[in-house]
Amino acid sequence: MEIAKTIESIEALVKTAKVAGKRIGLVPTMGALHIGHISLIEAAKKQTEFVVVSIFVNPTQFGPGEDFEKYPRPIEDDLGICKKAGVDIVFAPTPEQIYPSENIEWVNVEKLTETLCGKSRPEHFRGVTTICARLFNIVAPDMAFFGQKDAQQTVVIKKMVADLNMPLKIVVCPTVRDSDGLAVSSRNKYLTDEQRKDATLIYKSLQKCRELIESGTVDVEPIIAQMRSILEQASSIVIEYISIVDTQTLGAINRVNGQALVAIAVKIGTARLIDNILVDANR
Ligand code: PAF
Repeated sequence: MEIAKTIESIEALVKTAKVAGKRIGLVPTMGALHIGHISLIEAAKKQTEFVVVSIFVNPTQFGPGEDFEKYPRPIEDDLGICKKAGVDIVFAPTPEQIYPSENIEWVNVEKLTETLCGKSRPEHFRGVTTICARLFNIVAPDMAFFGQKDAQQTVVIKKMVADLNMPLKIVVCPTVRDSDGLAVSSRNKYLTDEQRKDATLIYKSLQKCRELIESGTVDVEPIIAQMRSILEQASSIVIEYISIVDTQTLGAINRVNGQALVAIAVKIGTARLIDNILVDANR
């Protein structure tokens, strides 16, 4: 496994792989790798012949007062995980490589970024689309792999790729959960043992939602009320939003007719956690 720290070196390595006829799979990450990331690497290995993992804690997607400074950066562990998973190259650039001047151009997807997490994190997705656009241009992958856990991120990135005719396919992989249902996240590390137990209520309330919809409840308001009462069982949980939205526009809906995205964001202690499921009322 090679480690590329500069744009020039990653470009040269990818070029050699492309000349050899290999398709390039990119797994963009901020490090602190866990089984969710490993599942993305595995998907990339199945669908492409040359896998690049980028590790870059992207400052522009953190808002003021968020966890940029304390975000975990266990680079040696991450490199070990990548090596074991059979990654071809880790691209781990410095911030200066990626953002050589303060006046970089932003790539911004409007509307889709104004709802759900965009309400409390108004500049977050602009940071995500900007870094992803830069990574896509530098690595020139045939496919890039993202987790369904960040549902809004996947919709926003797909829109950017479609509207800007970026020549790659976005592959969305299922959310990986611990055995008690909690979605795996680098931010679960911030939870105390007690908070970790409380966090299982997030998936419980999503399961309740699925149960209600599959048994014929279609009005969103009573469903959200029941989900809320599950989350309120733990006083440590501060609900940011519980939303049932259209899977494409991310706009709120009143009744679930076909497919819908059910998304939750909460704060537990210092951790802000998100999770979601896709539901289908016609099932
Ligand atoms: O999902 C993440 O870890 C980040 O938002 C990403 C896509 C690596 C961009 O920094």
